[in-house]
Amino acid sequence: MVLGELVRLRPLEPDDAEALWRWNHDPDVMRWMSDGYGQSLSDARKQLAERPRNAYGDVLYGVEARADGRLVGLVRLRDAEPETGCAELDLYLGEKDVWGRGYATDAMRAMCRYGFEKMRLHKITLTVVTENHAAYRVYRKVGFVEEGRLRKVFRRDGEWYDMFTMGLFADELR
Ligand SMILES: CC(C)(COP(=O)(O)OP(=O)(O)OC[C@H]1O[C@@H](n2cnc3c(N)ncnc32)[C@H](O)[C@@H]1OP(=O)(O)O)[C@@H](O)C(=O)NCCC(=O)NCCS
Repeated sequence: MVLGELVRLRPLEPDDAEALWRWNHDPDVMRWMSDGYGQSLSDARKQLAERPRNAYGDVLYGVEARADGRLVGLVRLRDAEPETGCAELDLYLGEKDVWGRGYATDAMRAMCRYGFEKMRLHKITLTVVTENHAAYRVYRKVGFVEEGRLRKVFRRDGEWYDMFTMGLFADELR
């Protein structure tokens, strides 16, 4: 359990599959994220039940609102390499009614602190579609620095979009 000011990060339970499945079929939530090929609810349940337990190379936490204990999103530190101490971060909040309350910023801070302190990471990186202004704002607020631009790598509704690569060192976390 990882505590932020507004959210709590906790491992997922089998009963969380329905929320994840609902979020993954919401076009507003998935607007700037890879949406795969569609998944049935029973496949989502099976995938979550069979997911290996959290470990250094893949830490997935549910983001729970401390106010009411509701699961509102996911945050994940993946592909951590012991040789370099570099890992990649993914974040999304699937419950749209909590957007704009500072939850994503708080979840990012808590997960990055966890990565640097508990996992002793050297650097955390992420990618974000350049048009995803809310996410970009969250990452900048937390201290991530833009490091590069991947041209036309994300496709949505027949259009190609660029992505920023961003990175954060421990002493840059705000
Ligand atoms: C993007 C997302 C993570 C933001 O979560 P959130 O809890 O609403 O974020 P916060 O409330 O912590 O902060 C949002 C910030 O973005 C700003 N913002 C919101 N919409 C914006 C827009 N269209 N343009 C610019 N800034 C915007 C807010 O004003 C706020 O900044 P501020 O605190 O300086 O005012 C959430 O909406 C989400 O998960 N969306 C769908 C999935 C997704 O895009 N994930 C990221 C993939 S890289």
